[in-house]
Amino acid sequence: MDINELKNKFQELMEKVSDKKTLADLELKFLGRRGEINDLLKKIKDLAAEEKIAGGKLINDLKKEIEQKIIIKKKDLLVAGQDLIKRIDVTAPGSRVVSGHLHPRTQVLRKIEEIFISLGFSVIEGPEVETQWYNFEALNIPKDHPARDMQDTFYVKNPAGQEDLVLRTHTSPNQVRFMEKNNPPLRIIVPGKVFRNEATDATHDFQFYQVEGLMVDKHISVANFKAVMEEFFKRLYGPGAKIRLRPSYFPFTEPSFEVDLFCVFCQGKGCRLCSNTGWIEIAGAGMVNQFVFESAGYVRNEWQGFAFGIGFERIVMAKHKISDIRLFSSGDMRFLKQF
Ligand code: DAH
Repeated sequence: MDINELKNKFQELMEKVSDKKTLADLELKFLGRRGEINDLLKKIKDLAAEEKIAGGKLINDLKKEIEQKIIIKKKDLLVAGQDLIKRIDVTAPGSRVVSGHLHPRTQVLRKIEEIFISLGFSVIEGPEVETQWYNFEALNIPKDHPARDMQDTFYVKNPAGQEDLVLRTHTSPNQVRFMEKNNPPLRIIVPGKVFRNEATDATHDFQFYQVEGLMVDKHISVANFKAVMEEFFKRLYGPGAKIRLRPSYFPFTEPSFEVDLFCVFCQGKGCRLCSNTGWIEIAGAGMVNQFVFESAGYVRNEWQGFAFGIGFERIVMAKHKISDIRLFSSGDMRFLKQF
């Protein structure tokens, strides 16, 4: 067989190779110890002396060419094989897409907003840096009033020497802010972050959220207030939810109440969340003091309304059995991933 014939034969067979096994056979057939190339080399000795060198070179060139083609083919088969595995291995574990989700606080806030919107309330926002007038004076808490001590305040340095600013200690300033610009009848809630300069523990943090509520019209009474609260808590926690009102004091309401939620955790038996009382303090509330209407520019005794300030985290804690309020702002992924 001459060299060209051998080359063509290899080429022909090579084109048919589509797997490792036939490639290995081909390699053996041509490059093996007893393969075609060696057979040919053996024949060199029969050639005339002047043809030996040229003949030997031709055979070696062919040998190199075949070796090269086999190496390339091996690589091709390997790559093709991997593609095949990727395409067909349905049992290979998928790569997980990492996605975030809403903060547990946001999830519950959305639910709360949904409930109040369905009861005809609008959702309003206000500033976190507040003037002392809106935060205190407009709400019947003058400078020397002992109620200022009830709320430990972060004062904001104000180099421009304008009004004295504070980080709002509650969302109540938005009652006045809203009424200044709107006339009754009105129904709003104002969710937002508030700040208190105080030591933290499992139920107190220096920043937390409140949901302020305000409803004003000609003949709003405590009965309206109780009905709205009961409906709200039943929609949030289920038909079994119960609340009670206790007399309390706030300068901006008269009369004032504390709203307690029957402990959804222990069903009144007493547990850590309700400090073994069976009830969780969930909101401050009352009938809007006429002083506050006057701060907003309304005429005294023309309107009646109720207001409330819900301790928002307590609602989330009761819903998800969370035992420490500081977890909400900790950024701890082990906590957040549970929701
Ligand atoms: N602002 C009060 C606080 O932070 C809570 C509160 C009490 C809000 C009575 C109200 C209210 O709207 O009527 O402690």
